[in-house]
Amino acid sequence: MAVAPGSSIMFMPSGGLRGTLQVPADKSVSHRAAIIAAISDSPVRINNFLRAADTSSTLRAMATCGVEIENLDDGTPIVHGAGLRGLRPPRGTIDIGNSGTSIRLLPGVFSGQSGSFTLDGDESIRLRPMDRIVFPLREMGVRIQAKEDRFAPVTVAGGRLHGIRYEMPVASAQVKSALLLAGLYADGPTEVVEPAVCRDHTEIMLAAAGARVEKEGLLTRIHPAGRLHLEEIDVIADISSAAFWLVAATIISGSELTLAGVGVNPTRTGLIDILLEMGADITLENERRQSGEPVADIRVRHAKLHGLVVGGGITGRAIDELPLLALAGAYAEGETLVTGAAELRLKESDRITGLVDNLAGIGIHIQGCEEGFLVRGIHGALGGRIRSHGDHRMAMLGAVAGLASSEGIAVDDFDCVAVSYPAFLDDLEKLGERGSW
Ligand code: S3P
Repeated sequence: MAVAPGSSIMFMPSGGLRGTLQVPADKSVSHRAAIIAAISDSPVRINNFLRAADTSSTLRAMATCGVEIENLDDGTPIVHGAGLRGLRPPRGTIDIGNSGTSIRLLPGVFSGQSGSFTLDGDESIRLRPMDRIVFPLREMGVRIQAKEDRFAPVTVAGGRLHGIRYEMPVASAQVKSALLLAGLYADGPTEVVEPAVCRDHTEIMLAAAGARVEKEGLLTRIHPAGRLHLEEIDVIADISSAAFWLVAATIISGSELTLAGVGVNPTRTGLIDILLEMGADITLENERRQSGEPVADIRVRHAKLHGLVVGGGITGRAIDELPLLALAGAYAEGETLVTGAAELRLKESDRITGLVDNLAGIGIHIQGCEEGFLVRGIHGALGGRIRSHGDHRMAMLGAVAGLASSEGIAVDDFDCVAVSYPAFLDDLEKLGERGSW
């Protein structure tokens, strides 16, 4: 169901959510599939590729760099890999829209090509820090420029690359991935050390493509590669999209949902672990592997929650889902405190300020602090308006808050969900509920 730009949608209190959903393909894995397929030495069929704004930006970027992309009738892309060094610089700037993952990962592969590649994006992208990739890539010998060394546009012109050991100051999978991709082109091994666990889809896919990748605790080492070879990638369903239903079903009484084939890579399941500790009723069934990634059907039933203090390493394993914990906390007994989550201020929007303003506005007792927030569970969401500020995850959180509210909630600019979950309203309708506008 397409939503017109700028539309506000009203979400009314719902009864129990019951049924089975197939949530969209994983955004992180789809980005990596498009990039790694493009530098593979063969055609790669990407099954269940996420057709959403962000991942289309990455696929389009690869096409702009001369990679042939064939689309089958059912929308499955076959990326005709141009080889490790086969990307060609386009004439103009590559526009990656709202996609932080594209603008942070692509410089890694552009480092190994001839010619110069410039990446830029929308207003939100131009506010997001790029120094986190600029400095370590420069240390590897990459010629890379950014506005004030910190902001888009970013121009990469390759260079003679050296392997480095880099201790990341922040737990960022995007930074780790950019360095591992650049490491394919270096003259020796590249080592990246994470301060806390962050998603490892790049390592899993590069290893499947034949790269030599080693893991030692929080250290990942990649060796220079001569070629990458892949034939097919099956993209798992996105736990970050499933997260909205996990919280919705947990807080709305009478709910019981099954979310089919969702990626449960332990680097991404922080939200499940936290909700379980708060008393949620979530079970993983039919656990299996898909293209090297653990997958399961997730069953979730309504449950009574209690507040929790959340901080330390787990925040990196739940980074995109932490705002949802504020909503869960509003339905829990006692207080829920999230700390050590300063990175939330640097996402598609400042997710701490936006969350606190929005949730306070719908009657939730929430206080923000520099690195997180504190919620007191009293009566959950009452009603009012959520301003998404164009942030897809804030818009979907608003929808869940509306379904769980006592009076209904309008969500502004709901069309931004197209960034990661274009079929959100269709899935809601499958459960017998709908927004109105
Ligand atoms: C992502 C990593 C995370 C996450 C983002 C997607 C990725 O960002 O917030 O939505 O695909 O690598 P950081 O790596 O900056 O923490």
